[in-house]
Amino acid sequence: MTGKLLPLLQSVALAALASCSFIPAKRATGGYIQVPSGNASFTHYSYCAQPACGIVGHGYTAAVNQLAFGAPPGLGPGDACGRCFALTGDKDPYTPTYPGPFGQTIIVKVTDLCPVQGNEVWCGQTQGNHINQFSEPMHFDICEDTGGAAVFFPSGHGALTGTYTEVPCSQWSGSDGGPIWNGACIAGEDAGLWPAVGCGNQGTAP
Ligand SMILES: *[C@@H]1O[C@H](CO)[C@@H](O)[C@H](O)[C@H]1NC(C)=O
Repeated sequence: MTGKLLPLLQSVALAALASCSFIPAKRATGGYIQVPSGNASFTHYSYCAQPACGIVGHGYTAAVNQLAFGAPPGLGPGDACGRCFALTGDKDPYTPTYPGPFGQTIIVKVTDLCPVQGNEVWCGQTQGNHINQFSEPMHFDICEDTGGAAVFFPSGHGALTGTYTEVPCSQWSGSDGGPIWNGACIAGEDAGLWPAVGCGNQGTAP
């Protein structure tokens, strides 16, 4: 029995090793911090037609802070590209006494980068300081163009804090556009939830 089982185990181990060699060596590299759920802050932006992942989402989409995105400006997609997240706002950090009502929980697909440079308040998380100026470890900048911001933010409250959870993209309502350049990637939509690898990370975390 042992004599038969051992070669079988060995071949399984070899198969696992062999399949490992196809996983990009980018996994968890570069000092990026990619956590599937937690606390976050939320803002909104417009003109989302040239997203850093290189593929537009026709549906609710968002940019995420550079430390979670997985690539610096100019290097294209990071491992966040294509991943889907359920977002819930429950506090206005500018008006902490605002009791609500808050907007809908929405599911967004990440298509874009919120760089540290120029967005230090919200997207300024770094390896040395994991939180932004509102003490949040993760930030989603929700695209206005496709309607997500309108249902997420209550009127007169354009910035919120709350929670996020990565979900399978089968829960996302929308469709993907075509690649707008070579190297576009939203493989996170088919990958397992973090820490599984999708597009992989590029370069070094801020
Ligand atoms: C999220 O923030 C709340 C306070 O607002 C805190 O109690 C909780 O521990 C935080 N959760 C995580 C995962 O950091």
